[in-house]
Amino acid sequence: MSIDVAADVAGSAGPNQQGYREFSLGEFRFSRDEFFAYLSWPTGSHIMSVDAFLRALQRDVAWDFFYGIVNFDGVFGTMNHYGTVDIFAGRYNDSYRKAELDYYENVETPRIRETFKSILDDWTNDGFDPFASPHETGPAFGIKHGSNTTAVTRRRVAAQRMVGVPGDEQLRSDGNGHPVNRMFADVPQDEPEIEVEPGFEGEVAAFSLFGYLARSQVTWNPSVVSVCKDSLFCPTTEEYILPIIHGNDRVEWFLQLSDMITWEVEDRDSGGVRARVVMKAGDVCAMPADIRHQGYSPKRSMLLVWENGSADLPELIASGRTPTYPIDF
Ligand code: PHB
Ligand code: FE
Repeated sequence: MSIDVAADVAGSAGPNQQGYREFSLGEFRFSRDEFFAYLSWPTGSHIMSVDAFLRALQRDVAWDFFYGIVNFDGVFGTMNHYGTVDIFAGRYNDSYRKAELDYYENVETPRIRETFKSILDDWTNDGFDPFASPHETGPAFGIKHGSNTTAVTRRRVAAQRMVGVPGDEQLRSDGNGHPVNRMFADVPQDEPEIEVEPGFEGEVAAFSLFGYLARSQVTWNPSVVSVCKDSLFCPTTEEYILPIIHGNDRVEWFLQLSDMITWEVEDRDSGGVRARVVMKAGDVCAMPADIRHQGYSPKRSMLLVWENGSADLPELIASGRTPTYPIDF
């Protein structure tokens, strides 16, 4: 994105009493103190624990506004229109809607991207890693002390074809800064042996996905490890709570590769409770396109998120030409 946009981020010139800058985007205002993030807009205001806010913000930034809706909680969030983004308050909350206090603005993606990146960088203290399990990071709280730019600007793994293919994303190792996580010490680290027919050398690749995921440093961060047209395999390792409530604009499949995750599933637009899905190792489920969901993982677990990356899907589903569920039996 252009330097002009970066220079355009509306932040206070000087820090507040706790050392943090205040930001605005359209009519939205953002500030933080030692414990909380404060948000306001023309029809209301909101407060969140700053660690939950930064964990959600980190994902929204790293995933470039993701598929559909990223709810930071039941009130505030973003909806991706792939080129522009809605920033909203109370829009997917029945009480706000009924009271007609919901509010949103549509902004160009580069503008919200740069603003959110600036907030994330300014508000993240030394020692806090918003992508890490709570067991593996220092706290988000306190008066401003340092920064953690390396953590908050981590490059997202996004294979063009598959991890391990020459010229594509690398396998993880101790040597490239990916030691085996404490919770996956029992996961075998041997790799498959590849016997290639003469003439196909350099065209066949294979790797151990379990071995690879055991070396993930982060939680709740699906990364693309293989691509076949619009079919994207996005596995991730999970511990504690998914920091966003994801509102789908397409169907997603979940394959629970190890341990267990409990999913709270709500109506995407009203937040009404729809289901609780308990997934144990080996379970497969599809999340419909009209729900939102948040996962709870009591132990570090491995989850394969299978996405359909087609750019046509949001419109096909919103117009009713494609159903919100994946299969007719
Ligand atoms: C999802 O919203 O489907 C999702 C997001 C992050 C994860 C897992 C699932 O780590
Ligand atoms: Fe999702």
